[in-house]
Amino acid sequence: MLTHITGVLNEPQLGAVRRLLDAGHFADGSESAGMAAQRVKHNQELALDDARHTELNNLVMGCLVRNPLYRSAAMPLKIATPYYARYTQGMSYGDHVDDPVMGDGPLYRSDVSVTIFLNNPAEYDGGELIINTTFGQQSVKLAAGDAVLYPSSSIHRVAEVTRGERLVAVSWIQSMVRNPEQRALLHELNQARETLLREQPDSEDTRRVNQSYINLVRMWSEV
Ligand code: NI
Repeated sequence: MLTHITGVLNEPQLGAVRRLLDAGHFADGSESAGMAAQRVKHNQELALDDARHTELNNLVMGCLVRNPLYRSAAMPLKIATPYYARYTQGMSYGDHVDDPVMGDGPLYRSDVSVTIFLNNPAEYDGGELIINTTFGQQSVKLAAGDAVLYPSSSIHRVAEVTRGERLVAVSWIQSMVRNPEQRALLHELNQARETLLREQPDSEDTRRVNQSYINLVRMWSEV
């Protein structure tokens, strides 16, 4: 399941992110890749020792973790410190699958991958995130401030940027609900539940749906 989340960051927040990234020091992105991915990864990442990481993480991840759609779809238990990637003309990231377990120090399993688009798609040509799903390939190129969630188990790539510059933040989530089908069902049910709680707060059906959702989360979550 792919989940498109609009407006994770607003215009002033995107402006602040852009100022930090424009002043940042970028390094060859292949240094942070696993062995198989290293061969196909051609991008740049904000250098890990760049002090701007703290402010960027507060801004970008702060907005993401407060987003209700993100919380419902990902059911996050742990989230990784993101990478801030830059693709300029000629850069791409070929087909790969993300590492299953990550972390320096505390380890986490990657269940859900997230890409947050940090600049306007009119600023570059190419640069689509192409994800292989059970329903074929999905090509994703979103407005600045939008995010996409997708299963970390899927093969995906970033098409070559043929003009301009593509800026994204990428991170990985260990979900409380490991199974993607269970997670997708819970997200669907939760959306119906929220509508019912808003529109028919006193109905007996709302109570049943709410209780079923809560107890399914209890049944399926590992924390
Ligand atoms: Ni990836």
